Parts: sequence; structure tokens; C-alpha cells
Amino acid sequence: MVKKPFIIVAIDGGAASGKSSTSLALGERFHLLHSDTGSYYRALTAEMMRLGVSPDDLAAVRAALGGLRLGTRVVDRSARIEISGRQPGGEIRSREVNDAVSHFAAIPELRTALLEFQRGQADVARKGGFRGLVMEGRDIGSVIFPDADVRFFLHADPKERERRRVRQGQHDRVAERDRIDSSRKTAPLSCSEGAISIDTTRLSIAEVTDAMAAVVDRAFGAS
Ligand code: CDP
Repeated sequence: MVKKPFIIVAIDGGAASGKSSTSLALGERFHLLHSDTGSYYRALTAEMMRLGVSPDDLAAVRAALGGLRLGTRVVDRSARIEISGRQPGGEIRSREVNDAVSHFAAIPELRTALLEFQRGQADVARKGGFRGLVMEGRDIGSVIFPDADVRFFLHADPKERERRRVRQGQHDRVAERDRIDSSRKTAPLSCSEGAISIDTTRLSIAEVTDAMAAVVDRAFGAS
């Protein structure tokens, strides 16, 4: 029997660099399971806030993490997180979560709590009959899947990224989040060696997606 090719596509980049739009489009084009790891960090942040836990109180963060059960629910083509059986809602895109998420994401224990969960999405994709996994985040090509078949790093001018957020009706200090994400000790935002770096400042989503799709197409041919 001929083994069906299954590929992993890692997309990293700063806030509003174009990761979500392009990874969703690639997921649709190639029938890949889409995993937005930022939404997992956002969901854990919202849960910590709901429990009244501060990112400065490591003991409380540890205790709270110990009481949570993480699960996956595939909705359309996306792997959504469930925390102790509950699916997070729109609060994960709130201003409060935007402001707090990078502080929680810098905590090594919280990142460890998500590590196996994220790697496990490859199995979810296989079992679900997808042709692969497209995962977006900050450390996918460097830490989660360093051996991914394709690794992209998207970046854009900070002013343009702020504008994109405003157009989406969001209040988000993208430069501040990037500063915290890039300077943390554990798994900082960085372009991993060998990743294909794309400046999306002056490109449309369709142009970026087409450029990425050409690379993914070649990866399928090579696998
Ligand atoms: O979509 P946007 O670029 O605004 O951010 P996101 O992907 O939703 O991620 C929200 C935050 O989660 C980031 O600012 C990081 O602090 C954190 N994050 C991370 O540390 N590692 C990841 N793999 C993904 C997100």
C-alpha cells in the first residue's frame, strides 16, 4: 500500500504579521488541520484571569495549571482547545487578554503545559483524515516542530501591523507584545534557522498565501 504523504507546516511571526489568514487559507487549499496556538495561550490566559491568578504569582499559576484538563475539538478545519470540557469564547480576543497574554506566555510551566498538547495535534490531524497540519505561533519551527516539512516566518512593519488590528476593530499593542515575546528566556519569538522569511508589509493576503502555497506544493511532491 502506498503511504499517503502527511506534512507539517509551521508558521511563526509577530502579532498581526499575517499568520492566521494565511494558515487558514493553506489549510483550506491543501486540506490541512489548522492549529492556532496563540488561541491556546489566550484561552489559558482567560482561564487564569477567571480564576483570579496573576502571572507574578508562580505558585498560584502552577496550582491552577494542575487543576486543568486540556482537550481538542475539531471545528470545521480547526483544532480548538477545550479547558476542562469548556470551549473558550470571544473573551480570548478582549483587550484584557491582549494585555496579559504575553506575561502568562513567558512562564515556562505554562508553556510546558501546552507542549505535548500542541505536538499531539499531528495525531489529531492524522486520525481526522487530514493531509497534514498547519500550525501557527511563535515557537513552532524552533521548539514544537523543529523538523516540520516546511517552516515559515512572517514579519511586517509594526505601523502596518497596528493598522491591521485597528481595521479588525481591536485594541492591541502589537509592538509591546512583540517586545515581551521576543525578549523572554523560554522559546522567544524568533526566525528559526532555515525558515522561509516573508515580509508581508506590502503584500496582500492572497499574494502571501500563493507564495507559501507554492512551497507547500513542492513539499507534498517531495514527501
Ligand atoms: O494573533 P496574534 O499575532 O495577535 O497573537 P496570537 O497568535 O493570538 O498570540 C497571542 C500571544 O500568545 C502572543 O503574543 C504570545 O505571547 C503567545 N504565544 C506564544 O508565546 N507562543 C505561541 N506559539 C503562540 C502564542
